[in-house]
Amino acid sequence: MHIAFAASEGVPFSKTGGLADVVGALPRALAALGHQVSVFLPRYKQTKLVDPATVVRSITIPFDDKYRFASVVTIGSQSGVKFYFVEYPQYFDRDGLYGTPTGDYPDNAERFALFSRAVLEATKILGVPQVFHCHDWQSALVPVLLRTIYAEDPAFKDVGTVFTIHNIGYQGLFPPEVLPLLMLPWDLFTMSKMEFFGQVNFLKGALVYADYVTTVSKKYSQEIQTSEYGFGLEGVLRARASTVTGILNGVDYDEWSPQTDKFIAAKYSLQDLSGKALCKKDLLAAFGVANADLKLPVIGIVSRFAAQKGFDLISQIMDRLAREEMIVVALGTGDKPYEDMFVRLNKQFPNKIAVKIAYDNALAHKIEAGADMFLMPSKYEPCGLNQIYSLKYGTVPVVRATGGLDDTIDPWDPRTGRGTGFKFTEYNGESLLLTIKQALQASRDQTSWQTLMRNGMSKDFSWNASAREYGKIYERVKQMRGAGQPATEKVLV
Ligand code: ADP
Ligand code: GLC
Repeated sequence: MHIAFAASEGVPFSKTGGLADVVGALPRALAALGHQVSVFLPRYKQTKLVDPATVVRSITIPFDDKYRFASVVTIGSQSGVKFYFVEYPQYFDRDGLYGTPTGDYPDNAERFALFSRAVLEATKILGVPQVFHCHDWQSALVPVLLRTIYAEDPAFKDVGTVFTIHNIGYQGLFPPEVLPLLMLPWDLFTMSKMEFFGQVNFLKGALVYADYVTTVSKKYSQEIQTSEYGFGLEGVLRARASTVTGILNGVDYDEWSPQTDKFIAAKYSLQDLSGKALCKKDLLAAFGVANADLKLPVIGIVSRFAAQKGFDLISQIMDRLAREEMIVVALGTGDKPYEDMFVRLNKQFPNKIAVKIAYDNALAHKIEAGADMFLMPSKYEPCGLNQIYSLKYGTVPVVRATGGLDDTIDPWDPRTGRGTGFKFTEYNGESLLLTIKQALQASRDQTSWQTLMRNGMSKDFSWNASAREYGKIYERVKQMRGAGQPATEKVLV
């Protein structure tokens, strides 16, 4: 089947988080199953392209004030996937993808509306897919446009749409005036469509208009239908529950495996773990932890410093954790208070708490390989990739039982020798501290700890199985469309 991805980031061209990993890997897995896949991304300043060729010179995109003219370039196929980039330098040739350290760009509605519309127009020239697969609020307008102002366009007759929620906490909320600016009809501004507490909600538009909605783990697909996790959209999701499903993300073991990783000091494997000690030494050197006792367990963190990731719990317990026999190594950027907290802790406990406020892929790999444990106490976690990478590196995850963290980590039971990590449920500092202490305690028995490490390293979360699940959804959507039965009719009446 021909599938076109529309997304705001994808490795190796642009990345701020896990969405990019998924958009980089899932299309390749689909192509390997025989699908024809094209991927549309914006061309940002950070998008480095070798010999791009212009394939669509000028796409006219009407805005209320003036027409804008985008173009599309390609680098051809990579691993069987065609990559296209929407060029509109006024919007995308900027340092950040979505904003500056002080906040979102004020014209994000225009930027991603232009992107979504350019993707539709481009496919009319480059080939209309059978299914558009869109991701998060930045491409949420694709299904909205297809069922509203493009509804009569014969080019898109029978085209299906799948929309994947990677994080319902980010919805693309804008003032009502963006509708006329983007030439979208006012009748979208109702509670049953895109209106959301007086604002226009891009994500909600996709939840109303997409033929099928998926999210990135089974547990999260259930959680977002509750008020605790739905960020106000639980009702919309519940109303269409029969066409909402969770498909766990896979991971790309070409990038994330201690057997082949080019960023780490020594390679190692399930059969021969000896290289991991060298990776630990190298990691501590990279973080400037002088004269560290290599026997001390190292707890790694690689994360966006955001409330979602459980940093308020971490801040509650850090001073007490620093009294334990261990070292914390944290890499991340994000909310200033959390950055400041780590800088302060590092000053106070220079040999115990090391931090780099940075976005650094090589260091992220070094932490996966060199740490003994990986901490992810998320408040919510749609899927989470780092804990899955950690399993492959024999770096034992300590997680909160939410979303994909709950679906991917089995609790360690020393009596049976089963399990892959440590998890807690109650979202509070005490539970987190207790669970870390249990992990530290368990690491003192190196024989059983190695069983635990090997349990994780033996797990296989490669994309193949999940790509097949997506294949089934595309097929269902195609049938629904072909039978003239868009799923959304059920919602809209
Ligand atoms: P999210 O997308 O919510 O941030 P995920 O666990 O799905 O969380 O994915 C995060 C991805 O971003 C991983 O590939 C991780 O290695 C990467 N990452 C996050 N923070 C950093 C950082 N400071 N430096 C390098 N890579 C990072
Ligand atoms: C989001 C989520 C994360 C998920 C990633 C890829 O950024 O926060 O949990 O792994 O998307 O789907």
